[in-house]
Amino acid sequence: MNQEQWTAVDHYISETVVPSDAALDAAIEASSKAELPAIAVTPNQGKLLQIFARLVHARRVLEIGTLGGYSTIWLARALPEGGRVISLELNPKHAEVARANIERAGLSKRVEIRLGRAQDTLPKLAAEAKDLFDLIFIDADKASIPQYFTWSLKLSRPGSVIIVDNVVRKGAVIDAASSDEDVQGVRRLNDMLATEKRVTATTIQTVGSKGYDGFTLALVNAVA
Ligand code: SAH
Ligand code: DHB
Ligand code: MG
Repeated sequence: MNQEQWTAVDHYISETVVPSDAALDAAIEASSKAELPAIAVTPNQGKLLQIFARLVHARRVLEIGTLGGYSTIWLARALPEGGRVISLELNPKHAEVARANIERAGLSKRVEIRLGRAQDTLPKLAAEAKDLFDLIFIDADKASIPQYFTWSLKLSRPGSVIIVDNVVRKGAVIDAASSDEDVQGVRRLNDMLATEKRVTATTIQTVGSKGYDGFTLALVNAVA
């Protein structure tokens, strides 16, 4: 088993189960042209996010880490009339590319990108007396995952789902002595999950065109 095979199978899945379309293709193309890092979710992962959003009948989605808006488009398409994605992004260039991609996909009315460090925009979001989020996708800097998860618990309700991307890191997650702050961010999340009663969580390892990684899925429990 190797990267070449994982990529070939991802392509095969994209050609069969997860066909692309002009707006998704254009989002990837524009992101690449603007020299954004090629780290968006893959098509099959994007569709999984969309399915999760539909499973929880999401009306309000929070994304932490927009990049070029590729995952944002998948999520926004899951929403009913009046639904909304709020996506938090630090890098103005990424946000600009994302806004154009989302506009091209015809989703501007459903998506709001908030520029700034999520560490700053999350408290502001929490201070707004708005409805809680039905689905939260954590996909920004990995060192801050514990902080983002803590905010996500405040911003969600029983029945909400919280998804955290990139939590296996080629297997490096098991190295307790790792000097990689991203690995330590994920490890602190796992320490939190080990005792956190408010969610029911699992982590799934994945392979594909983005290599070997994984995601955590946490369902917010009903209050006992
Ligand atoms: N969700 C996107 C990929 C996000 S990549 C997709 O799958 O299509 C991670 C993004 O998080 C980058 O655009 C990066 O600029 C942004 N980011 C990094 N640190 C951040 C921070 N502290 N606050 C908000 N966004 C941040
Ligand atoms: C990185 C970030 C991501 O969100 C991802 O899915 C893959 C890689 C990164 O920062 O390298
Ligand atoms: Mg990611």
